[in-house]
Formats: sequence, C-alpha cells, structure tokens
Amino acid sequence: QLPQRFRVPLPIPRVAKPARSDATTDYYEITQRVADVEIVPGYKTPVFGYDGEFPGPTIRSTSGRKTVVTHRNELPVPTVVHLHGGHTPAEHDGYPTDLVFPKDGNPGDFAGHGDGMLGDITRGSRTYEYPMRQAAATLWYHDHRMDFTGPQVWRGLAGFHLIHDDVEAGLSLPHGDRDIPLMICDRAFEADGAFRYPAVDPTLRHVPGVREEYMEGVAGDVVVVNGAPWPELEVDAARYRFRLLNASNARRYRLSLDPNPSGGDGFVQIASDVGFLAQPLRHDRIDLAPAERSEVIVDFSRYPVGTEIVLRNELGNGSTAEVMRFVVARKAADDSTIPERLVEIEPYDAAAAKVHREWSFTRGRVGNHAGWTINGKAFDPNRIDAEPKLGELEVWRFYSDLHHPVHIHLSPFQVISRNGRAPGPYDAGWKDTVDIPPTDYVEVAIRFSGFTGKYMMHCHNLEHEDMAMMSAFETVD
Ligand code: C2O
Ligand code: CU
Repeated sequence: QLPQRFRVPLPIPRVAKPARSDATTDYYEITQRVADVEIVPGYKTPVFGYDGEFPGPTIRSTSGRKTVVTHRNELPVPTVVHLHGGHTPAEHDGYPTDLVFPKDGNPGDFAGHGDGMLGDITRGSRTYEYPMRQAAATLWYHDHRMDFTGPQVWRGLAGFHLIHDDVEAGLSLPHGDRDIPLMICDRAFEADGAFRYPAVDPTLRHVPGVREEYMEGVAGDVVVVNGAPWPELEVDAARYRFRLLNASNARRYRLSLDPNPSGGDGFVQIASDVGFLAQPLRHDRIDLAPAERSEVIVDFSRYPVGTEIVLRNELGNGSTAEVMRFVVARKAADDSTIPERLVEIEPYDAAAAKVHREWSFTRGRVGNHAGWTINGKAFDPNRIDAEPKLGELEVWRFYSDLHHPVHIHLSPFQVISRNGRAPGPYDAGWKDTVDIPPTDYVEVAIRFSGFTGKYMMHCHNLEHEDMAMMSAFETVD
C-alpha cells in the first residue's frame, strides 16, 4: 500500500556547518553511515546516509573559497564521493575506482574490486578538496562506486552542494525561506518500510548489478521530494526560487503546475545545471532527466490564498503523475524581482572547434552479459578514450538508441544543436548533463579547463552507468 499524498510537510535538508574555517577554506566532516530514517510516516527505512540523513546535509560554499570535505566511511561497503557539476582536480573528483573501503575492509572482501579495478584507494576516510573557482550553481554530491552507484544512491547517498557568489547576491532573487532546493526522486518500498531495489546481491558486496528485467533502469512507484513522499509545502503568496534536481536513478520528469493560471510562464527558469542563464526563460513545463537541475521562480501571488497547486509529472502515470503540492497560506510582502538579465555567458563558436568527437550510446555486450556501451565498448577504468587539450574548444556529438542522459565531468558545456537544428527549450545555459532521445543526435561544445587528469563521461541512468556505459578521458596540457 502506498503512503498517502500531501500529508507530510516538505522537509528542508539540514545545512552542514563547517567543523572549522580559516582565511581561505571551510572544512567539513561527514560520516557515511547506516541509519533508520522515517520516510513513509510510521515506518523506519534503513538508509545509507551522509551523516545518516537522506538527503545528506546541504553544503553551502562561497565561490572562491575552498571547501574541504572529509568523508568517513562507516558503511559496510566501499564508497566514492563525486561532486556533480564541480570543477574539481582529478584526484578529488571521485573516479569510480578511487574507493574508500570500510576501515577494516579489504578489497578481497568485495568481489569486482580486484586487480586492475583499484585506483587510488583509502581505508576508513578520504578528504576531498574543492577549489570552488566556479560561479553560483546548484550542484549535488552522490556516490560513484564502480558497478554499484545505482543501489548506493537509491539507499540514500545524495545531497545538495550549493555555490553562492556576489553576482547572485546582486540579483534580488527570492532568498532565505523562499529559496528552496527540491531533490526529486522515485523509490519503491517493502512492506516493512525498507527500500526495495532489485539487486542481484542485496549485500552490495560480491556481485554487482540488477536482475535482467531492469536493463532500462530501476524505477519506483513513490515520488520522494527531499526525503518525503509527495510532500506539501505551505507558501506565502509571493515569488519562490526552487532548485529542482532530478536525483532519480532512471526516471525522467516533465513537471507542470496544476492549476497553472498564467499560460506560458508558470515557471520562470533562471538557471540550469551549472549556474544562471543569460536571461530568464518562461516555460509551462520543465523536463528533467536524471542528474539535471533547473532553477525556477514560481510566483504564488498569482493564486488566491487557499489555492492548492499540485506539481505534476506529465511523464508519470498513476502514483508517479504527482510530485508534491503547494498551498498558498497567506498574503505576504515580497521584495524579490526577476531581473531581465542574469549573467554574461560567452556563447561558444562551434564552427571554430578543431576537434570533433562522436559518441554512440547503445545496448551491447559487457563480458558475457547484456549491458550498455559507448562506441561499442564497455567501460574499462584503465582505458583512455579521449585526450582533450585544456583550453581547446571541442564539439562532441552524441547518438543514442533510447533515452540516455549523458554527463561529462570537470567542465560544463553548451548544447549547440539537435539533429542539426536549434537546441531545445531546456538546453540553454551551462549544462553538465544532456538528455539524448533515441531520435536525436545532439552536439555540445565543450572547453575543458583547470586540471589535467583522468575524468569520466557516462550515462547518468545509474543502472546503465553500472552496466558499463561509461568512458574515461584524460585532459592534457
Ligand atoms: Cu552525477 Cu559521474 O556523476
Ligand atoms: Cu543510459
């Protein structure tokens, strides 16, 4: 039986406090541990949580100040932390084989992590350093363990990491209690409240992967926002900024407001994956593939006090057609504005790119199993598939056999075209993930910068990622 809708108030993930700060840096400590969390009212769900919480605590960084996070692993399995959207040196980027083993764990205790599958490993903890030389954006951090990312994120290893800067502070956008991150994902539950995930090996120790029928990814029948099923948020009749994140393993959403009073601008989009757009874009719906972010302003002063507004998912059916509900509780003052210009974005001139690469995302063979491949190859953590030069503009063209949300680490990109035509309504701004539908090829322009080293490009359908739909590239000078 499914939990009732719109009964639980929307939780706001706790904001982490630095353990200490100095002139240049904020230092955080997070313990990854098993904890019982109440997601469905009246039930305890054992989670893998950052600090035992789901979502994990929100880290707030200031652009230009270093953020250093020490993660202690007290889980029964190896983990890897990736800051998604971060402009991060390779050794801190969470390469899938840079495993943090449990304190007393040995690689031999965990099948699949034998010779050749071990990168720079540690035991018990690891300290990740983020320079934060990047603009205001809604990033998130999540597990990236080789072959086991899907089940470990499903069990709870995901949290927000927001970057603030002076440009943002000068924009007079809704702020404080009216600036709300929404981590949207789907989950399924057992009768006792435990998460249900069709892992071949539920201990997540010996055998990776899901049962054969989950080739297309694992989906749930409960929509969970900030760790609560179909929550409700009381709002003032005022503008709100929502930082939408699709943290689902495989589900795509098409979000809309019901009722939608306006016709054309229910959502005013101000940012995408890696920061502000050049100017706001008006939409009635927002498409979000796994890992994509969209920041939108919703103006609740357009609704009479007392109105209940459902955030719908037009791609869902039955229980997954609804996400959460807003209730306009009261009239209130509002000093926010929606500026006509947000930030300067230098448009990449794709015609000037000298390097072109093509990547084809398709079903294929991985060992003697069915799996997912890029250019016909299963991921090999020791093979480098491209060597982009720092500072050089490249155009990457993606083909796919069904929906694959493609994510590139290290540097953001601009979507140049779809099938040779203009980009789509959700392609604006700095992106780090782009959904490639089966009928389209998509071109993006990317210029890597900052750090040489080994990084990932992969499908962010987490089951596809675990079934080898990843590729390593090395940035060179
Ligand atoms: Cu959000 Cu390589 O991951
Ligand atoms: Cu995929």
